[in-house]
Amino acid sequence: MRGQQSVLIAGGAALLGGIAAALAYAAWWRKNPSACPYEQRFFLEVPHPFLTRARLRRILAPRPGERVLEVGPGTGYYTLDIAQQIAPDGVLEILDLQQEMLDHTMRKVSERHITNIVPTQGDAQELSYPDDTFDAAYMTVTLGEVPDQDAALCELRRVLKPDGRLVVGEIFGDPHMVTFGSLRASAEEAGLRFEQRLGGKLAYFARFRAPGPATPVLMLNCSAITDKLDA
Ligand SMILES: C[S@@+](CC[C@H](N)C(=O)[O-])C[C@H]1O[C@@H](n2cnc3c(N)ncnc32)[C@H](O)[C@@H]1O
Repeated sequence: MRGQQSVLIAGGAALLGGIAAALAYAAWWRKNPSACPYEQRFFLEVPHPFLTRARLRRILAPRPGERVLEVGPGTGYYTLDIAQQIAPDGVLEILDLQQEMLDHTMRKVSERHITNIVPTQGDAQELSYPDDTFDAAYMTVTLGEVPDQDAALCELRRVLKPDGRLVVGEIFGDPHMVTFGSLRASAEEAGLRFEQRLGGKLAYFARFRAPGPATPVLMLNCSAITDKLDA
């Protein structure tokens, strides 16, 4: 009887210790943003609950002929679908920090004989595209991995054409999840106007719009960020 109790106590302590370690790891990870390692790509291949392809299509509203940017495609969960929406003349540029993610996505692209996707290895905090390049841009479950989110949002605004759309998708359970309130505040500081949200607080897509041609560009944070990058 006593032996059984000891085993139960030891088991319970081990379980609590495991949970505490997992929570501590998640908290550490949240404070130290970093790219999801390619070795953990399994999590990117499974269906994305609430952040479905159909919902992204609905809020991004990609049109044939558009030039679109995807930041952080990972293994390409959304990539092929969006590329097909803008075909045949539209181009989808995909940018990821990790070449392995791009290679993985491009293997799928060539298996499906899709020809309108251009991969670039790079950092969301310092995009290599000229100003006013894209009709639309999107990033899902990625912004929280970027150490300087304000810089990334400023860069996205810079490369969007006047009135261009930016869609950001986030979901609870991702240790790097960016809450809607925090995203909206940062996006507005970068000069982007909030337009629409699909979903609730725990899983959402949010759409923002770059200033139109006649709108003065208010980028409260961006000049400081540009100065920092130039230094
Ligand atoms: C969690 S995965 C999401 C992948 C995909 N969007 C999805 O929803 O399945 C995040 C991706 O963003 C990329 N990433 C992280 N930080 C980045 C940065 N600073 N610049 C560009 N890509 C980045 C990672 O390499 C990874 O491929």
